[in-house]
Amino acid sequence: MTYRPIYHFAPAFGWMNDPNGLCQFNGVYHLFYQYHPFGLNWDDMHWGHATSTDLIRWEHKPIALRPGDDYDRDGIFSGSALIKDDMIHLYYTGNTWLDEKRETLRQVQCLATSKDGLSFQKSVHNPLISEIPEHGNAHVRDPKVWAENDKFYMILGTRNELNGKVVLYESDDALHWREQGIIAEGTGEHGWMWECPDLFTLNGHDVLLLSPQGMEPIGDRYHNLHQCGYFIGEFDITTTQFTHDSFSELDYGHDFYAAQTFLDDQGRRILIAWNAMWEQDWPEQREGWTNQMTIPRELNIRNNRLWMTPIEEMKWLRQCSFPLKSPFFSGKAFELEFDVEGEFQFSCFQGTATLSVAKGYIQLVRNETERRIQANCERVRLFIDSSSIEVFVNDGEYVFSSRIYPTNHTLQHHLTGNISNIMYHSFE
Ligand code: FRU
Repeated sequence: MTYRPIYHFAPAFGWMNDPNGLCQFNGVYHLFYQYHPFGLNWDDMHWGHATSTDLIRWEHKPIALRPGDDYDRDGIFSGSALIKDDMIHLYYTGNTWLDEKRETLRQVQCLATSKDGLSFQKSVHNPLISEIPEHGNAHVRDPKVWAENDKFYMILGTRNELNGKVVLYESDDALHWREQGIIAEGTGEHGWMWECPDLFTLNGHDVLLLSPQGMEPIGDRYHNLHQCGYFIGEFDITTTQFTHDSFSELDYGHDFYAAQTFLDDQGRRILIAWNAMWEQDWPEQREGWTNQMTIPRELNIRNNRLWMTPIEEMKWLRQCSFPLKSPFFSGKAFELEFDVEGEFQFSCFQGTATLSVAKGYIQLVRNETERRIQANCERVRLFIDSSSIEVFVNDGEYVFSSRIYPTNHTLQHHLTGNISNIMYHSFE
């Protein structure tokens, strides 16, 4: 059985990491991504490109950005999109290694634009920002750019010897940038580098989303190699002060990193994350590709937490739907929904992964590695796609996203316990 997903975005071949430049341009959704087209492992980053009219069926497009200029010789690193003057503006980090072992680097912020959404020209003004921020260091990357109050703003992830930070820049023309200072930084327990920051207003609050490298586990939290999470607070753009609550993990599964959001023309704040984690085995490599994105999720704040709900369009994938009567069933790509009245267990692909609710915990075990939280589970909606599981608990209150690799070519699943109203939706 192939590990290639039916409805998740994955590269046709080669290596993929972070989603980049998410946007909607003339009604079409654009997904760019960190891409190495010439190998199965991370190297020489390009920006791959795909478009969609519904966020679920993606069309592969020619590579959008290639490294090779003086300022981005060794990689086009992550960044974001801004729609301005009827053009897509892609802001990215140009990476240059300064030694053969790739221990020292130069990171500068750059721009490329496109009128047709297909071919991209690097700006003659590149690099737009080449100075190291005052309280950061040479690790400074992943520009997220937005327009507000007739000005343009950019945030970047950076660090000092100890802590990750987010630094803010301001511009009048989206080309010339002035550093405004650090708007948030870690305090010891938040890891040593903050990657892929994103700042947006949602339901009357401001949210700083980021991917900290190097947080230590605390109890059941932060068990992935690197984390992805957020601070909810209030950001005052005039004083550039961001006052916020404590850090929260965004997803409780094994594979979730470098999440990025954008606002679509229906006013939805939509998130796509890299459905992977660094430094693992990727069994799909024997099929010539590495990694996939999560399904797109709509974000909302409820009870001072970020909830993630599958975008409405996911329902369009349903080919045939029926109430599930037997505890045993089969399928490669499907959705399952049920109400939870007590404990239950869902064993998918004959034990490749097990989701259970027992003794007050919601738990997802993959290859004997568990991720769990102590929480109330009333309802489950989950998505299986060849080599992944995404579980949405209580309509998005808690989400678990993990890659799973069935080894015995089985499509058999088993669901038992104190549950009701079980609906099965086949996507094939
Ligand atoms: C996050 C990240 C980014 C960087 C990119 C390089 O996964 O490390 O900080 O821009 O990947 O591919």
